[in-house]
Amino acid sequence: MISQNSPRNGKIIIAPSILSADLWKLGQDIDEVVAAGADWIHVDVMDGHFVPNLSFGPAVVKSLKGRTPVALDVHLMVQRPMNFIKSFAKAGADFLTIHIEAQDDVKEALLTIKNLGVKAGLSIKPDTDPQRLVPFLDLLDLVLVMSVQPGFGGQSFLPSSPQQIKAVRELIRQSGRLIYLEVDGGINAQTAREAALAGADALVAGNAIFGAPDKAQALQEIRKSATI
Ligand code: DX5
Ligand code: ZN
Repeated sequence: MISQNSPRNGKIIIAPSILSADLWKLGQDIDEVVAAGADWIHVDVMDGHFVPNLSFGPAVVKSLKGRTPVALDVHLMVQRPMNFIKSFAKAGADFLTIHIEAQDDVKEALLTIKNLGVKAGLSIKPDTDPQRLVPFLDLLDLVLVMSVQPGFGGQSFLPSSPQQIKAVRELIRQSGRLIYLEVDGGINAQTAREAALAGADALVAGNAIFGAPDKAQALQEIRKSATI
């Protein structure tokens, strides 16, 4: 079953998050998951303000650009996205997703992303009302539903997530636009199915893939479970 108003053609999109990769051999870890069928690489950016953690800057995106054939899906968990959009676009981000709960003007930030020729995403935290997305749907290529509180890999998929995903799927359907619905946090071979049944197009998975003894097998199990 493919949800209506989905830009994907058929199969579910799997986006391994390099937050859980072994940074000593980041390139090798990426090559391994791409060879196993990863569709996008998810890059989590944290500023120590929006979330209590730090991660990657534009230099990491720049070093991946052109070295892997898949899209770079950059998730900005930062308080002031306007300070960083240009540098991540220049570094080669294919998708730039900001948070609706961040402090900058959401419309201005989304327009800045689009004017730089990058696909624009908007994310909501687990407790955020999906209705807040409505004024921005016309500008979006992607909605990212957080299924854990943002900030750390390896957390458990929140039981409230399917309800949140279904609500967003319905808003996208009502918009009549082609917008990816991506789900991020606690995705594994069990929860992938719940997310897909609720209407996800794209699944981010960090710990379940990079923490597995066999990354290719872990990715394929997630894909199999999400194929409904
Ligand atoms: C959490 C990040 C996620 C994280 C997912 O703040 O946005 O992308 O890497 O990791 P897992 O799959 O381990 O929950
Ligand atoms: Zn993320």
